[in-house]
Amino acid sequence: MSQRTIDWVDGAVELIDQTQLPDRLVVLRITTVDDLIDAIRRLAVRGAPALGVAGALGVVLAGGDAEAVARLRAARPTAVNLAWGIDRVLAHPGDPLEAALRIRDEDVAACHAMGARGADLIEGDALRIMTICNTGGLACVERGTALGVVQTLHERGRLAEVLALETRPLLQGARLTAWELDRMGAPYRLVVDSAGPYLLTTGVDAVLVGADRIAANGDTANKIGTYALALGARRAGVPFVVVAPESTIDPATPSGDHIAIEDRDAEEVLTLRGVRLAPPGAKALNPAFDVTPHDLISAIVTESRVIRP
Ligand code: MRU
Repeated sequence: MSQRTIDWVDGAVELIDQTQLPDRLVVLRITTVDDLIDAIRRLAVRGAPALGVAGALGVVLAGGDAEAVARLRAARPTAVNLAWGIDRVLAHPGDPLEAALRIRDEDVAACHAMGARGADLIEGDALRIMTICNTGGLACVERGTALGVVQTLHERGRLAEVLALETRPLLQGARLTAWELDRMGAPYRLVVDSAGPYLLTTGVDAVLVGADRIAANGDTANKIGTYALALGARRAGVPFVVVAPESTIDPATPSGDHIAIEDRDAEEVLTLRGVRLAPPGAKALNPAFDVTPHDLISAIVTESRVIRP
């Protein structure tokens, strides 16, 4: 993508407002921590690696205000990258901006490395790949993790089709992944989330997903619906591959049981882009993530290694 998802431009954080996609490409200019927290909470910026960069640049905006940094850290609980980006900049003895820009640059390099390593790992040609949520450049700085592998496969002429889950309730698959695949010129079809496990019995070569937090034992939190795909993939004998940077691995979290799962507003389930779906008074439960146990994961691909949990 030519427009970076998140960057530091002339003294401010600039980020693509992902709530406006695919209708409009709007770039927000953010100069305060509170506006950055608001952008994170409403998913204007989202995806674990992009949240890492947001956390890092947020420390620069905070200018030494520890209370503001604490609020930023709590903006979303599941993706470890947010706290990781904050802590790396806080631990840097010199200029915080220099540390934050290094995190930004490392993300770009890591995504290229993950793309190549993941594409090398997946065997075969004319591949049919299933994915969920959005793990593309929009979830990172300019190139994605799992969708970065898809992009590399496409560039190498090995991709037949992507089956992209729409990813209710906020439709990151339908709105964002479809937009990115379209811009790549990669062949894809959207499917409803509940079609995923069935379609895995119809000739899919691999499931490629991202991660928000990988516990020390390999259990992995990712977008709600990922666990169902992992179960379906195991039953169908389809490789289930997690693609994520080393910064998503959290050695301080021993297993998936210890990962905080974000509960989001019931309104996101009860409505669809402002249109009410359920009768008045209906209640809803809205866990944003689930945990896939390590024994269902064929491999975790990072920028520096392939881990087989
Ligand atoms: O709620 P979101 O859109 O931030 O959820 C994002 C995901 O679940 C992604 O799969 C994950 O952050 C990895 S992004 C490379």
